[in-house]
This record gives sequence, structure tokens and C-alpha cells, in this order.
Amino acid sequence: MQAADQPAIIRLFRVTRRYGAAKALDEISLEIPASAFVFITGPSGAGKTTLLKLLYLGLRASEGQVIVDGMNLARMDRHRIPMLRRRLGIIFQDYKLIATRSVYENVALVLEAAGAPRRAIAARVNTVLRTVGMEERRDALPPSLSGGEQQRVAVARALVGEPRILLADEPTGSLDSASAAVVMNLITRFHQRGGTVLVATHDHHLIRSVPARVIRLEAGRLAEFHHNPLNP
Ligand SMILES: Nc1ncnc2c1ncn2[C@@H]1O[C@H](COP(=O)(O)OP(=O)(O)OP(=O)(O)O)[C@@H](O)[C@H]1O
Ligand SMILES: [Mg+2]
Repeated sequence: MQAADQPAIIRLFRVTRRYGAAKALDEISLEIPASAFVFITGPSGAGKTTLLKLLYLGLRASEGQVIVDGMNLARMDRHRIPMLRRRLGIIFQDYKLIATRSVYENVALVLEAAGAPRRAIAARVNTVLRTVGMEERRDALPPSLSGGEQQRVAVARALVGEPRILLADEPTGSLDSASAAVVMNLITRFHQRGGTVLVATHDHHLIRSVPARVIRLEAGRLAEFHHNPLNP
């Protein structure tokens, strides 16, 4: 099935997010079909990170409705946030790995928090680390890894719980082109298995490299929402 035939998995209706008097997002309405690949672009300060944060309840909207995978986030109690996050994989620009835990533990923590049995955790974590090419570094601590290696661990952590939606904030922002290609390839494979992907980036080269929808923000407003011409 084409993404366009799918019901919306993410829906924003007149969403505004204020910081004091300033509006980081200003009345954004949009729908993203399940299994879509979407880039969120726009200049620095346009609201890309703010938009992603609203989707995982790193922030709440000041006004408007945010619906993610059938859940109405405006009304969601704090104790239900872990349930939301289990449906999401999140890749942060600065990786956010725990410096004092091994590669293996960083990835396993997601499944431990979800209460998975220990044996299932070991099998799944090893599989995912192999997928991202980090199985030989499983006992390493993140500060001893290169940026590209840390980002591959972050991708493994985002994918280990088999999320429905992957949110990635500048996932290749600080990587060289070879590492960036590896990371984008992992993200593209998640999409090919049916996952919904949102990638925030300034990088036009990256945007042109993948058939996708493109959401362009400018000063908190939705300036454009189109299909990449690569995408039939
Ligand atoms: N915690 C905060 N307090 C006050 N203002 C904030 C805060 N976080 C973000 N902003 C403001 O909100 C606006 C949008 O920020 P956001 O981080 O979403 O932009 P961005 O598009 O991700 O930019 P970049 O490309 O630089 O990452 C900016 O004007 C920013 O200064
Ligand atoms: Mg940002």
C-alpha cells in the first residue's frame, strides 16, 4: 500500500508552542500517513526540534491538538508517557547515550524498561548491534567511540524496541559523509519495513537523497509541505 492510502499516524491541528511571548510554532496543522518518510526542514530556529519534541512529549503544545498513533497528547497524563515512548524511536542530534554504561547496556535499557525477559533482551540487542555494525564494540563506553559510532549506537537504541515511528533530529548533522550514509541507510531500511520516519535536517543534499515528503518550517510557520520530486 502506498503511504498516501494509509490513515494518519500523526496529526497536528492548529498547534502553537510559545516560549514566553515568542511563538516557536505558530498554528501548525498537518497530517502524516502511516509508513511515510518525511523530512522537516527550514532555517535554524524555525521550530524543527520543537515540533519533534511535541511528538514525544518532551514538550507540550501551548494550544492545539497533537495526535500520535491514536493518542491525544494534550490530554495524556505524565504516567502514560512511557507508553507513548515505547511506540517511538528517538534519535537525538547529540546522541544522548549514557556515558557510564556500555554500548550493550545503552541499547538494552530500552527493553529492560519495557519489562522484556532477559534472554529475549540479549538476543534482540545482539541482533540490532550487528545490524548497525557495532557488535564488536558492545562492551565499549560511549566516550571511547567516534561520533559516527555513537550515532550508530543511538540508532540501535531507537530501533531495538521495534517502534512504529522513528523521530530523528539532525541524525547526520555531525557525521562525515560515509558515516552519514550508513546512518541514513539504517533509517531507510526501517522505513522499508513499514515504519513511519520523521527526520529534521537542514541538509538539502540529504533531503534530495531519499524519496520523501518535505515539511518546510519558517519562523514557526508551515511554509511548505510537498513531495520530493524523487518521490513518484
Ligand atoms: N527552551 C527554550 N526557551 C526559549 N526559547 C526556545 C527554547 N527552545 C527553543 N526556543 C526558541 O524556539 C525557536 C525554535 O527553536 P528550535 O530549536 O525548535 O529550532 P530548530 O528549527 O530546531 O533550529 P536548529 O536548526 O538550529 O536546530 C527558536 O527561536 C528558539 O530560540
Ligand atoms: Mg533543532
